[in-house]
Amino acid sequence: MQAILLGPPGAGKGTQAKMLTERYGVPQVSTGDILRAAVAAGTPLGKEAKTYMDRGALVPDEVVIGIVRDRLGEPDCRKGYLLDGFPRTVAQAEALNRMLKKLGAPLPRVVSLEVGEEELVKRLSGRRTCPACGEPFHVESHPPRVEGICDKCGGHLIQREDDREETIRRRLQVYRKETEPLIGYYQNQGLLKTVNGLGEAGEVFARVSRALEG
Ligand code: AP5
Repeated sequence: MQAILLGPPGAGKGTQAKMLTERYGVPQVSTGDILRAAVAAGTPLGKEAKTYMDRGALVPDEVVIGIVRDRLGEPDCRKGYLLDGFPRTVAQAEALNRMLKKLGAPLPRVVSLEVGEEELVKRLSGRRTCPACGEPFHVESHPPRVEGICDKCGGHLIQREDDREETIRRRLQVYRKETEPLIGYYQNQGLLKTVNGLGEAGEVFARVSRALEG
């Protein structure tokens, strides 16, 4: 299974990627998670990335492309991968095509999750995330069993810096300008399947799985 999950911030890419990795046994490659881990570790990459992430801007293409090139070259990605949050610009998509060609890997399937803007704002402003394992929760639609504690690993849940309403709106603008053109890009290559991202996470998962298997 080689797949890309496309969609605006809050569409459920991370939630679906975690469910899909369990079903298909391939790793989730989330550029957002990799960048947040670098920020938490205080590495030079993390310090640079934080200046973009905190204001809802994209980290420069060359930085993110380098991260994905290294990650896809690791042995666990030989059997497949689920890209979550990459590519996000046409330049990133073109770089990915070149990388896959070089690795002799097949072209991925692309699933675009569709969710309206007000629902996205609601999902992101109520999101709580586990900084230890990355598991996403929501104060209303998917609360943890014990308030503030991750069901999966017992970590203390946080609200992401970029999940404040003003930054959410900025991220959505960036999505429309930089990332939405990828829908046409992958449609033209015959790789795109569009999936309604509304409804319970389990229902969306059934739709995404059908799109990937069909
Ligand atoms: P990243 O971490 O990739 O964030 P994003 O794309 O903005 O996506 P999110 O993680 O916010 O949302 P999601 O679609 O994964 O939704 P989730 O499943 O969590 O990127 C963060 C930043 O890093 C970027 O702004 C940029 O600065 C930088 N970056 C990352 N990649 C980059 C790249 N390639 N190039 C340049 N810069 C890059 O769900 C959201 C909430 O909704 C949760 O609370 C969840 O519980 C809830 N939810 C999920 N599904 C449902 C459902 N079906 N019904 C109701 N609620 C649901």
